Amino acid sequence: MTSGRSFYITTPIYYPSDVPHIGHGYTTVAVDTLARWHRQAGDDTWMLTGTDEHGQKMMRAASANGSTPQEWVDKLVSQEWFPLLNTLDVANDDFIRTTQPRHEERVKQFVQAIYDRGYIYAGEFEALYCVGCEEFKTESEIVDGEGPFEGLKVCAIHSKPLELLQEKNYFFKLSEFQDKLLELYSTVPDFIRPESARNEVVSFVKNGLKDLSISRSTFDWGITVPWDESHVIYVWVDALLNYATAVGYSSDPAEFARRWPAYHVVGKDILRFHAVIWPAMLMAAGVEVPRGVFAHGWLLVGGEKMSKSKLTGIAPTEITEVFGSDAYRFYFLSAIAFGQDGSFSWEDLSARYQSELANGFGNLASRTTAMVDRYFEGVVPPAGAYSEADLGIQKVVRDAATMADSAIERFRIDEAIDHIWAIVEALNGYITENEPWALAKDETQRERLGTVLYTCAEGLRALAVLLSPVMPVSTEKLWVALGAPETLGRLQDQPIRDAGGWGILPAGSSVSALAPLFPRVEQTV
Ligand code: ME8
Ligand code: MG
Repeated sequence: MTSGRSFYITTPIYYPSDVPHIGHGYTTVAVDTLARWHRQAGDDTWMLTGTDEHGQKMMRAASANGSTPQEWVDKLVSQEWFPLLNTLDVANDDFIRTTQPRHEERVKQFVQAIYDRGYIYAGEFEALYCVGCEEFKTESEIVDGEGPFEGLKVCAIHSKPLELLQEKNYFFKLSEFQDKLLELYSTVPDFIRPESARNEVVSFVKNGLKDLSISRSTFDWGITVPWDESHVIYVWVDALLNYATAVGYSSDPAEFARRWPAYHVVGKDILRFHAVIWPAMLMAAGVEVPRGVFAHGWLLVGGEKMSKSKLTGIAPTEITEVFGSDAYRFYFLSAIAFGQDGSFSWEDLSARYQSELANGFGNLASRTTAMVDRYFEGVVPPAGAYSEADLGIQKVVRDAATMADSAIERFRIDEAIDHIWAIVEALNGYITENEPWALAKDETQRERLGTVLYTCAEGLRALAVLLSPVMPVSTEKLWVALGAPETLGRLQDQPIRDAGGWGILPAGSSVSALAPLFPRVEQTV
């Protein structure tokens, strides 16, 4: 299934200075869902995630824990960041660590290439730096400290004091790219999505760009500048390059040509790095710019951006241990408009789990399989003549599949789920109206009963296929219960762009009992 167009998608590479929280999990499951959808559509898909392991933040976290930076990242990555992918059922194709030789070598080659092309010069520099962001801050990003930091200048994102840095650095001529970037944003209007993110970046770039300090000489936890051993490459330049180094930049031209350019999904906190600095770096090197950057919003807890540094961080396992990984994925991807901020609360999570998953989708699956079991000895009956109501369901399925695919093209996972959910609602209503339990009491209605239950089972077939990128675990259970592996093959091989068709699940498939897909949880959270 790799004959289709190339679809290469990335998450940010996260700082493993600390443990993952639900914000990291959010981006990762969103990207995984988009990748699974495209993979299942037959696109030549590649999903990359990884960790950003250099820089001052990492050095400090390591020394605060009495480790060397390498020991610290090795421990965090193996004990926390790799397991996160299992916890959330993420099917990434690769995982890059910026301390890997494959990355370090190619970063040096890239930086040398833009140096040779005249885009880097040496200069003096003095500015306020936020170690939390690993970024120099401009006036508008600096606020007055409160509480323990009263009287100090702090970062608007981290609320922690900034540090005045004064160094001889190497600079990248970012200011030369203002016009080219503005041209990119206007010729490729969806280069930055959503619209609000695009507008913000366009006005930022219109205000003028300053050259970017791209090396540091006061510490050595980084990749050495190839022409000056006393400097290491700025951690963001090193980090952004992961997207290229992981797919063979300067080492495997065939692989690079096959994958590149990428779609990047990031939180809006790091949009400018991806939509301004990164394409400018690529332009300087003569490499194609990304296909696009999608910036999602922040998960808010108690009205504030959730973060470890503010102690509002929630570990993904706190959710998955109670509700399961599918519920985690479904909740964040459906409850929040992708691109906007969303407030997390345990109450909202449990309410949606109960109403949408347990009572909505789960109950539909249990009822349908139980009735096929009871009335047809577990064998999917053939459909007879279709009534208006049956044809109505077929149309709901067809439209949902088409609209979900087009929402996914726009990266709107929430809208795709909404469209798919129309099938859940239509089928639950259809069962109520058609009362199969009443039809079952009347022998003359045998064929009608078969048509109704075929319609339900076939609707579930479509739901299993369309929801598998979002909820791979429960849809697999449903697929097995429908007897579909024997007749149709593996769930992940079902072409998702054909999921809206009708009559795909063969009559005669043998249905088996299904334990509740979303069991009741104790309300102790
Ligand atoms: O910035 N809501 O890494 P990081 C939603 N290493 N998403 C959130 C979030 C929240 N409250 N908090 C974090 C870095 N995220 C760099 C990236 S890429 C070349 C280098 C998610 O560990 C979101 O995707 O601080 C955000 O952009 C990312 O985690 C930041 O992760
Ligand atoms: Mg951060």
